[in-house]
Amino acid sequence: MRHSRTALVTGGSRGIGRAVALRLAADGALVAVHYGGNEEAAAETVESIAKAGGRAFAVRARFGEEGALDQLFEGLTAGLAAHGEDGLDVLVNNAGIHLTGSIEQITEEEFDRAMAVNVRTPVFVIQRALPLLRDGGRIVNVASAATRVGSPVQIGYTVSKTALLGLAAPLANGLGRRGITVNTVNPGVIRTDMTSDWTGDPQALAGLASITALGRIGLPEDVADVVGFLASPQGRWITGQTVDASGGTYLGPIPQG
Ligand SMILES: NC(=O)c1ccc[n+]([C@@H]2O[C@H](COP(=O)([O-])OP(=O)(O)OC[C@H]3O[C@@H](n4cnc5c(N)ncnc54)[C@H](OP(=O)(O)O)[C@@H]3O)[C@@H](O)[C@H]2O)c1
Repeated sequence: MRHSRTALVTGGSRGIGRAVALRLAADGALVAVHYGGNEEAAAETVESIAKAGGRAFAVRARFGEEGALDQLFEGLTAGLAAHGEDGLDVLVNNAGIHLTGSIEQITEEEFDRAMAVNVRTPVFVIQRALPLLRDGGRIVNVASAATRVGSPVQIGYTVSKTALLGLAAPLANGLGRRGITVNTVNPGVIRTDMTSDWTGDPQALAGLASITALGRIGLPEDVADVVGFLASPQGRWITGQTVDASGGTYLGPIPQG
């Protein structure tokens, strides 16, 4: 039996993950749209995919809570089976949470939560996904350009996303002989619910645009197209890499004149 391509996008209900889910579905994949609690947003994403002629189903699991991975993989395998599939070709670890605060401000509880959702979860999602992952598969982890910016007020977030960067190279070496690639995408500031505090402020927006080579903040689709390429057959020769998808944010002072 010939299988279609399949994909799991964590945090596929909103923002960057939603755009990734739409892109992978447009490329022909059956997409598992994972969400943490916003059932309405997940249903809307699945519906948008269906309206565009694609195939998707929603899977709920609240990362950082007991039993979340069991719930994720029960939902995933049941959803795949309902569509006559039993394997996975693309895994996008996108779900994540932001943590604002300086070294003086962050609490151990907040830090543990950021590490649990942004690092521990992707590590063990990958571990649990491996038996399903077909040869030639793709893993893409969504970290952040914050990992090279050095913002003192995003210390917990930066540490968590920098830890996530460490996954790609060892996994790429471990899985490469099966044609599986593992990469990280680092978005800059993207217009989503996560950044609505800054993007609703015209002064902050202008400041961000001024330090970005392409002169604006990003849209979810700007990142989804990069993830889509890495996940596609054309992305087969890139592995173990970090790809910056920030429109050139903080490349250095923009020369005038
Ligand atoms: N936006 C940016 O500027 C930016 C920049 C760099 C990196 N990133 C990274 O890109 C990824 C997506 O960001 P975004 O801006 O699209 O975020 P977002 O708009 O806040 O959406 C977050 C997504 O992750 C899910 N999620 C959050 N916490 C979860 C949890 N504990 N358990 C399960 N699911 C959870 C949400 O599910 P529900 O809908 O159910 O809540 C939602 O689908 C994150 O890893 C983020 O760190 C974002």
